[in-house]
Amino acid sequence: MQNKILVVANWKANVVDINIWTKGFVGHSSEFVEKGVGVAIAPPYTTVSPTNYELLTTNSLFLASQDLSMFPTGAYTGEISASMLAGLGVKFALVGHSERRKYIGETTEMIDKKVQQAISSGITPIICAQTLEEIPNNIRNIDSSKYLIMYEPASAISTEGNYHPDSIENIKNTLSDWKNKLPTDVKFLYGGSVSPENISTFTPLLIDHSSLLIGFVVGHASLDPKSFGDIIDTLCSLPA
Ligand code: PGA
Repeated sequence: MQNKILVVANWKANVVDINIWTKGFVGHSSEFVEKGVGVAIAPPYTTVSPTNYELLTTNSLFLASQDLSMFPTGAYTGEISASMLAGLGVKFALVGHSERRKYIGETTEMIDKKVQQAISSGITPIICAQTLEEIPNNIRNIDSSKYLIMYEPASAISTEGNYHPDSIENIKNTLSDWKNKLPTDVKFLYGGSVSPENISTFTPLLIDHSSLLIGFVVGHASLDPKSFGDIIDTLCSLPA
């Protein structure tokens, strides 16, 4: 079945035992494949490996990355290229997360290059943006089925386990504004303090086709497989 919803677990720079996590998650949530809910795990680079790709794939989970290089494979010390990640089974990559813009100094120009690298290696970039200006202009020249856009205001990112999401009204207004100014059929994800307790407040936006919201990026609440599983179970219970 084609996925109708996509949820990305962004583990950030946290240490998670992927074996224990996967066991806990699939033990808790078993219906997501039949319900058309795609689940992608974006672990730190140290966990992106053929063995873990195998582990995730066996359990119907996608492997994602939290970033990729703006350069191709070659003499770029410390970088990890899109084609290396594609070779390890990475299907989606977050690009331009606000934490990288803030702490590493990533610019929209760099993000534009990352988007090009991802797409040319067959990875779907998830372009993270707080404002329309943070979305590279060039995406207007790319087939909109090849990328996704995540709306996440930095102020909505959870802090030490405290969840303070953007208001539904803001999300709705932002997405309808972006939708009018971006290529037709661009699909959006929302990120920022999504938790098992508040996920049902966001679900009307999924059903409301005018917002073109198709899923979520979950940070802190994805570290615990049971909490993450509760979010997925709520999405599985939506009417088909
Ligand atoms: P959060 O993080 O769910 O902990 O707010 C989401 C993200 O920044 O990707």
